[in-house]
Amino acid sequence: MCGIVGYVGKRQALPVLMDGLRRMEYRGYDSAGIAVMDDADLRVAKSVGKVRALADSLVDTTVAGTLGIAHTRWATHGVPSEANAHPHVSCDGKVALVHNGIIENYAELRAELTAAGHAFASETDTETLAHLVEHLMRFPGVTLADAVRSAVRRVRGTFGLAVVSTDYPNEIIVARLGSPIVIGVGEGEYLVASDPNAIIGHTRSMIFLDDGEMAVLNRDGYRVVSLENLPVAKHPENIDWSAEDAQKNGHAHFMMKEMSEQPEVLRNTMRGRIDFDAGNAVLGGLRDVADRTREIDRLIIVGCGSAYYAAQVGEYMLEEYAGIPVEVELASEFRYRKPIITPRTAVIAVSQSGETADTLAAIREAKMKGALTLGIINAVGSTIARETDAGIYNHAGPEIGVASTKAFLSQATVFALLTMFLGRQRQMSVTTGRRISEELARIPDLVASLLARQDEYKAIADKYAWADDFLYLGRKYCAPLAYEGALKLKEVSYVHAEGYAAGEMKHGPIALVDETMPSIVICPVDSVYEKTKSCIEELRARRGKVIAITTEGNHELDNLADDVIFIPKTLEMLTPILAAIPLQAFAYHAAVRRGFDPDMPRNLAKSVTVE
Ligand code: M6R
Repeated sequence: MCGIVGYVGKRQALPVLMDGLRRMEYRGYDSAGIAVMDDADLRVAKSVGKVRALADSLVDTTVAGTLGIAHTRWATHGVPSEANAHPHVSCDGKVALVHNGIIENYAELRAELTAAGHAFASETDTETLAHLVEHLMRFPGVTLADAVRSAVRRVRGTFGLAVVSTDYPNEIIVARLGSPIVIGVGEGEYLVASDPNAIIGHTRSMIFLDDGEMAVLNRDGYRVVSLENLPVAKHPENIDWSAEDAQKNGHAHFMMKEMSEQPEVLRNTMRGRIDFDAGNAVLGGLRDVADRTREIDRLIIVGCGSAYYAAQVGEYMLEEYAGIPVEVELASEFRYRKPIITPRTAVIAVSQSGETADTLAAIREAKMKGALTLGIINAVGSTIARETDAGIYNHAGPEIGVASTKAFLSQATVFALLTMFLGRQRQMSVTTGRRISEELARIPDLVASLLARQDEYKAIADKYAWADDFLYLGRKYCAPLAYEGALKLKEVSYVHAEGYAAGEMKHGPIALVDETMPSIVICPVDSVYEKTKSCIEELRARRGKVIAITTEGNHELDNLADDVIFIPKTLEMLTPILAAIPLQAFAYHAAVRRGFDPDMPRNLAKSVTVE
């Protein structure tokens, strides 16, 4: 979604800002803009479309200056247009501002400011703030920081923002409520971003603002205060991934690069976290709450999209091996329910970005009701990671492709570790714990062997390129994988796909089946194999084409399915981790064959930070 970048230092700001915008392109956006302080003059440029278009529009212009702010916009209020792109500028041309989030009471503020003589140039909610800051600065003795603080205190909604003014040509003011802002600390320079990836090439030393905080930055330092103007002591944290981690490294797309990284990602997710002898997981992030997790009698897991499906895989694992009742909820629904929470309930948020608005709201609701809140989060220092009581980092590195691939696999792996941890706190035997540990240790190599078969997956994607609709079916541990496989296909290739628990097929979807609607059936040799196999028979009886995913050595489906993809034998609970690989690859090759960029699917944003 929207992205913010800012710079104040000794270097020219424009190249730093443009580089930051490019590094945030993966997040999804429709227009971009910059404002650079050229002496005490603001140079503002905006373009609809890609950052490249903005760069092209600046080719014949000199934009000099060592302080500036920039933005990529994902339209909420008003169509993608130059007028609606950020930065927004006040009537007197002195204040420029970029904003992520939503100003819910903008109509009311706009009416008030219009009555006071302000003229609006866009349809956005954000522009209101630029005028409000200008308006407040007209009062004697009110500084830019004072005006921003007073303005945001009038806002209902969410914001991450960066503001500059020609009256304060050496200052950037940033503020946050519900939308991330990070400050990069360099040598004699400070950077600002809504996403650490935008500035990681310049510094790994970062300060994460919390909600209700703002900061004043200039070349010589920074000052963080609350929105009540009380000083807040903040210290830089070191981010453990590098700018190179966020490059394609010779792959055509981030999605393929991230799929290829999965064996190493899973090793990183598990590194130092398995005690083979004790048959247990060593989860440092849960150490301080281990006494509470022992007493938990109910788990609620919240997430969105792929994170929600990974949670459903986790639900099967936790119920089967840890014996804890588990409910998995869409975070977007949980926040509007009246969940029954007791002091012995733990609510787990699963999120790659750690910034998804619905998941964050769900965890806040759970916390308010007294639950123990835990996070399974990839982005270090993200809001959910900081707001939960304790948690487990995925250590998957930055995921740039919009489609969740390595994050999904590492989330499922974290659930296996959590299952051992909670299971061993309960009735799980050391023998069972050791069996899971040993099998988990084999998984990265098995994933690598599956990844090496791209030609096979591509050939199947090519063979079915004629199909406009797909059914994905799976049972038990593989039901969530059917949902995930269908989501992957539709989001990157725009082919219609529906994921169903195989048992549901006869309750409706079978009406769709004929020779034009192929099904991908995840049918490993597991405790529900015979039942899933019957489902394939039923599809065939209706002339449906079937691509089956089954276990190596099982040739019963050779004559039943049109195509068979074999995956190695593993524990039933870990099968989804292996079966995910051909599903990801099928979606990727289908997208590329259709000429689409799987890294930046239309209408989608990497991190959904508004409701
Ligand atoms: O950052 P999060 O894990 O909270 O994001 C959740 C979903 O938005 C995300 O998994 C989305 O569904 C992916 N595009 C799926 O590939």
